[in-house]
Amino acid sequence: MQNVLLEWEDDRIMAKPKVFVTKKLPSEVLDYLAGHCELDVWEEKAPPTKEQLMERVADAEGLLTSAYRIDEELLDRAPKLKVVSNFSVGYNNFDLAAMKRRGVIGTNTPDVLNETVADLTFSLILGAARRVAELDRYVRQGLWKRGDDENLYGIDVHHATLGIIGMGRIGEAVARRGKFGFSMDVVYYNRSRKPEAERELGAEYVPMDELLKRSDFVVVLVPLTPETVKLIGRDQFALMKPTAIFINVSRGQTVDEEALVEALEQGRIRGAGLDVFAREPIGADHPLLKFPNVVALPHIGSATAKTRLDMAMLAARNLVSALQGQVPPNIVPELRP
Ligand code: DGY
Repeated sequence: MQNVLLEWEDDRIMAKPKVFVTKKLPSEVLDYLAGHCELDVWEEKAPPTKEQLMERVADAEGLLTSAYRIDEELLDRAPKLKVVSNFSVGYNNFDLAAMKRRGVIGTNTPDVLNETVADLTFSLILGAARRVAELDRYVRQGLWKRGDDENLYGIDVHHATLGIIGMGRIGEAVARRGKFGFSMDVVYYNRSRKPEAERELGAEYVPMDELLKRSDFVVVLVPLTPETVKLIGRDQFALMKPTAIFINVSRGQTVDEEALVEALEQGRIRGAGLDVFAREPIGADHPLLKFPNVVALPHIGSATAKTRLDMAMLAARNLVSALQGQVPPNIVPELRP
């Protein structure tokens, strides 16, 4: 009898925490997680609905996900939850106040994606300036009939002024490409000044209005917070040059999309390159898709195989570290003890 009890106690001591993962991840990441947790992975192609998610986290201690709103409703249904590990750098899906109240840790995946997102930002800058997607369609439609056609001209990226709103680590990687790859003048606006970026990249700190007036390319890279919702609206588009190109690689809600449509309709700016939209995914009838001078991408900023693997592994390590009672390396600043 005593032995049975001891074994039962042993099992309890050794029981791995239950973790729900909302999508299939590379096998090495799942193997790592399985070594530390009792793993439950959503295997279906279509992502779980919120209701399905809530059912699966009912007895979970950990959740590895991205984009699902982690709010009171979900936390009520997951009383054992200790950590939500986001598979993204953005964590605007966290209701930080609700998580703090319940002592639920939240983590994200910064840094490993900086260079990849900066590459994508530059592909939007170049693509919009030289009309790459638009002219690809033109060739495919058999419209290319003659040589030099001034209707196909774009604008130069080299030696132009690059304005970066949100000079975090991704902003700095974009600025480096602009400065050293394309001899651009870099101006930036940020909550706090970045002396290193100023020294190393010659980036000039300017108020946002001045940035909007001076830049040939306005790039939004701020995180989505209550303060940055519709940061760029009618007034901001009105300040931009009519030749300016607007780029958004942060979150769609940082921009008033109606104001962007209006600015494009009225020719107040030259074009836009967008990786993000206020509500995703968008359909072919989205009002921004009627403009040939808009390059639209399906939120692929960090989407390369290597970077997504690095992000998944980092998210897994954050999760395990929190479940082992440590402060995980990438706990989001607002939830730090
Ligand atoms: C992030 O990590 O927040 C990115 O938007 C995902 O591409």
